[in-house]
Amino acid sequence: MALKVLILGVNGFIGNHLTESILENEDWEVFGMDLGDDKIKGLLQNPRFHFVEGDITINYEWISYHIRKCDVVLPLVAIATPATYVTHPLRVFELDFEANLHIIRKVVQYKKRLIFPSTSEVYGMCQDKAFNEETSSLVVGPINKQRWIYSCSKQLIDRVVYAYGAQEELSYTLFRPFNFIGPKLDTINEQKEGSSRSIAQFISDILYRGEIKLVNGGTQHRCFTYISDGIDALVRIIRNQDGCASQRIFNIGNPTNDVSVKELAERVVALAQNYPKIADLAKKVKITPVSAEDYYGPSYQDASFRVPSIENAQKYLGWTPKVSLEEALRRTLDFYFA
Ligand code: UGA
Repeated sequence: MALKVLILGVNGFIGNHLTESILENEDWEVFGMDLGDDKIKGLLQNPRFHFVEGDITINYEWISYHIRKCDVVLPLVAIATPATYVTHPLRVFELDFEANLHIIRKVVQYKKRLIFPSTSEVYGMCQDKAFNEETSSLVVGPINKQRWIYSCSKQLIDRVVYAYGAQEELSYTLFRPFNFIGPKLDTINEQKEGSSRSIAQFISDILYRGEIKLVNGGTQHRCFTYISDGIDALVRIIRNQDGCASQRIFNIGNPTNDVSVKELAERVVALAQNYPKIADLAKKVKITPVSAEDYYGPSYQDASFRVPSIENAQKYLGWTPKVSLEEALRRTLDFYFA
């Protein structure tokens, strides 16, 4: 019998790329729910894809029925844009924590396999050179720095899932994406400043504003991971050969793609000059430092670096990321402008 995979948030950044890859390369069936279908339009005709438009906070019956029917559940619905952590912290808690906990409990009840997105943000301002899933401390700022509500919501879910594993034998995998990037991350056509994550924001800045703003000068570092590498890891987790992913937490990130945000902006601008559709705009764009307070408001606080240890993913999943930063940026720009 082909594996049945339930993906909530199937039209999201990870959900749509994962579904596309599964339908192309595996014989699994995918059942998916999302509020919209703009990113999965090309998949809707596939007989192994069963999509329903819906809201995870409302359509409990459909979800409950499908958790029972499927083998593996990936609840991927979450708010994951830092600007929203500081403007709507309660929405982040209600969706990322409360709504997902409800789903997790159903997965426990029906004794199904749970694959849940934790986040690189749980490590917060940890000072380890490379963050390790089993030994690194999770370090966040004071309560008035509301940016951390996302990190804390995810951390508490991680702890609850781990406890269900320990006390009730829940079969789970927690995965921690490290700044996944690629086509269809956040919309690049959003006119409002600060609503997208960095790379989508920078492309949108070139298109609409003529100015890229570097928060605190852009000296902070991230390890950007191309989406196809992330999906490769996720497919291995779903496949779970010989139980290799069960009861484990995996950092999924590319430690060799470690750059400052300033360098990221400069590279996006330089590359964009090769695409006739945006070359002129890219040549004119200004790169300006701004304070975090001016950009995000007073309740933002940042991690100055974030490097994953991927030893566990290499050892248990046989996974190593392959796509360089240059290639990741090129493929992203190709998608929009080639
Ligand atoms: C992201 C988000 O919280 C989640 O998507 C996710 O869980 C996690 O990290 C991840 O993907 O690993 P962050 O790393 O801050 O958070 O993501 P970005 O919004 O892409 O920002 C990266 C850096 O660029 C931050 O330091 C931010 O201050 C800076 N930035 C962002 C700018 O300098 N200018 C901008 O216009 C936008």
